[in-house]
Amino acid sequence: MTKNLKKIAVLTSGGDAPGMNAAIRAVVRSCAYHNLESVGVFRGFQGLVEGDFKALDARSVKNIINRGGTVLKTARSKDFFLKEGRQKAFDHLKEQQIDALVVIGGDGSFTGASIFINEFDFPIVGLPGTIDNDISGTDFTIGYDTALNTVVEAIDKIRDTANSHNRLFLVEVMGRDAGHIALNSGIGAGAEEILIPEEDMGKDRLIESLQRSKKSGKTSSIIVVSEGDQIGKNIFELAEFIKNNLEGYDVRVTVLGHIQRGGSPSCYDRVLASRMGVAAVDALLEGKRDIMIGVQHNKMVQVPFEEAIKHQPKIDLELLRVADITSI
Ligand code: F6P
Repeated sequence: MTKNLKKIAVLTSGGDAPGMNAAIRAVVRSCAYHNLESVGVFRGFQGLVEGDFKALDARSVKNIINRGGTVLKTARSKDFFLKEGRQKAFDHLKEQQIDALVVIGGDGSFTGASIFINEFDFPIVGLPGTIDNDISGTDFTIGYDTALNTVVEAIDKIRDTANSHNRLFLVEVMGRDAGHIALNSGIGAGAEEILIPEEDMGKDRLIESLQRSKKSGKTSSIIVVSEGDQIGKNIFELAEFIKNNLEGYDVRVTVLGHIQRGGSPSCYDRVLASRMGVAAVDALLEGKRDIMIGVQHNKMVQVPFEEAIKHQPKIDLELLRVADITSI
């Protein structure tokens, strides 16, 4: 256990994700439990560069476990990617006598954190907070489960109207570089087709598959399209292609957009965030730095940042098979 650790700062960075507040709460309360001081940094790394800090205690984080978004606000900071900005951030941390930092965010945030650790030898532990689930070394990221539930609820509603009008709906879901949201929500919502960046189905095979579904007696169809999918230039262009190549369907497009990032976190995300927040403070007390807390086989693990940001595709091919079989 490190005796030099007295004050820990926490920030949220990148796109917000439901459960970030539960993670902040767990970090702050874990600090209180271990008689450490805690400080919130507003607007992610930008707040670090500008010195936008606030002392927190166990009561400052009351009634936030159930709230979406992040009470610390978040940003994608350009200044922090400049050496000058990082120097300012380090100076503010020293001024405030902060000994370590917990960063809740995605791969961009961990890349920034890793550069900072190498330059200033400052201890940082990361928690994976992104709805995309696109971080290596963890089975789940904070916010992913809630986003999936939001998407499934929305597609259930779209299915009602699709079915009533015998329509084909293309539904775009988030996931800039990864198809986790599309694949899992697509199976959960019973989509006929799921298009993800990791697997190029090709437009012609898509039309053939839709024709087969129609022949088998289906009167409406849902296609879930990950925003990172490359099959069409964009979802509207793909809708035009389907209109021109498939007879008998009225085609509509729904882009779910940022509703997927909001809302009260699911129980799973609250528990995951709480476990990760406690594990982050434990790791700092053990003298760890330059690592992310992950969950693997339902156990908390420590993963070097370098591993976490590798972008190893972790799409489960078995899920593609399940999607194919169950949508027949
Ligand atoms: O990384 C999370 C995410 O929600 C992606 O799925 C999406 O592409 C992106 O953020 C949207 O970012 P912004 O809110 O900056 O438009």
